Amino acid sequence: MNLLNINMEPINPTTVTQLVLPDGTLMPQAAMGTFHSDNPDLVEMMEEIVVESIRLGYRHIDCATAYQNEEVVGRAIAKAIKLGYVKREELFVLSKLWNKHMNPEDVIPACEDSLRMLGLETLDMYVVHWPWPNFHVPGSAGDAKNDHAVPYIHESFMKVWEKMTELKKSGKVRNIGTSNQTRKTMELLLRDTNDFNRPVYNQMELHPLFQQQELVNFFIDNQIVPSGYMSLGSPRRPGRDRFAEHQEDMLHPIILQIAKESGMTPPEVCLAWAHQREKSKVGYVAMAERSEWIKSNLMTATKNGLSQKHFEAINGDGTSENPGINTNNRLIWGQVFFWPEARLFGHDRDALWNDTQIFETKEDYYKFSFAAAAFYKIWKATAVDLPL
Ligand SMILES: NC(=O)c1ccc[n+]([C@@H]2O[C@H](COP(=O)([O-])OP(=O)(O)OC[C@H]3O[C@@H](n4cnc5c(N)ncnc54)[C@H](OP(=O)(O)O)[C@@H]3O)[C@@H](O)[C@H]2O)c1
Repeated sequence: MNLLNINMEPINPTTVTQLVLPDGTLMPQAAMGTFHSDNPDLVEMMEEIVVESIRLGYRHIDCATAYQNEEVVGRAIAKAIKLGYVKREELFVLSKLWNKHMNPEDVIPACEDSLRMLGLETLDMYVVHWPWPNFHVPGSAGDAKNDHAVPYIHESFMKVWEKMTELKKSGKVRNIGTSNQTRKTMELLLRDTNDFNRPVYNQMELHPLFQQQELVNFFIDNQIVPSGYMSLGSPRRPGRDRFAEHQEDMLHPIILQIAKESGMTPPEVCLAWAHQREKSKVGYVAMAERSEWIKSNLMTATKNGLSQKHFEAINGDGTSENPGINTNNRLIWGQVFFWPEARLFGHDRDALWNDTQIFETKEDYYKFSFAAAAFYKIWKATAVDLPL
């Protein structure tokens, strides 16, 4: 079903809040997402959706090799330029290095492939999609496993980062950043980079029920622009990212109450919070298929729609009396990226994220892995009720 309405009045892109990267580059706060949640029907439709999002005023497009549609998005960009909706230099195009290409020899060819498919000479931002080189086949189920999965090993990541630096030096990408970094992996990266090659952006899961306030503050304090994905709680995310524990942001009673009191819709309330948090220093990415939603998702980045009272009802005010509505409702647990020892400490929800298995070198990990195997054997032989 075509939900696009080309008679809808566009938004003036100059009214959309801009975030400033350390080199002074302006990046529109709101980005149009292009992940189709592994829905095959959306692969081809994405071309018209992206053209429409540009027509309606989006200037920041969030792409990735893993979404398997950069060619489609590239056609959309070319079409939008041809139709006179935008000039290339007015667009901010971001793409991501997929985990499968986290080998030093694959990084530059992978970026060149993205550029070719997107039909561009330069990317405005290129980010490493995940700190871990573990990958699943696109469309895989929640129990998919990769036999070669490893934890975060800093020396391996830095070899990838050297190639990211080369891409920046060559001008193929203007800025380099990361996605899904933890506090510890980012501390290591900052320790080993300089003013030229430090990451300036980190894309991460952020929505009203999963605010990650400390991590957001850490990035801002280190001149890294944080930007949130799944900003609406990703109601159509793939099955591998659905768990019985999950709550829905757009159905939370406080979100519904604020929507009623302010005259906004629940998604507008979620995105208004994303727009206003940290005095509008955090970006957000949202995806939608219909003109009405594409437009309203961008509109929230043009004005402060929430009163202070409503904003604090979601965000809290830093006191224990008003903690806001964050429930640590992480949607992407990332179990498809788990390595053999990942489950040793903590709940599955946190295993990828709790920084308990971060290694400087491969050798350090091998030592740990060897000891963990011996430990597990004894645990299995002696524990009354071994958690699986
Ligand atoms: N870096 C990463 O690891 C990572 C991970 C996940 C996502 N991302 C990026 O972030 C983007 C956004 O994430 P997402 O698409 O999973 O989640 P999302 O933007 O939170 O949710 C998108 C879904 O919400 C619905 N929606 C959008 N606007 C709406 C509105 N105004 N009212 C009601 N429903 C609305 C859409 O429905 P319809 O489809 O029916 O329009 C769409 O299915 C992705 O497309 C991708 O670019 C990055």
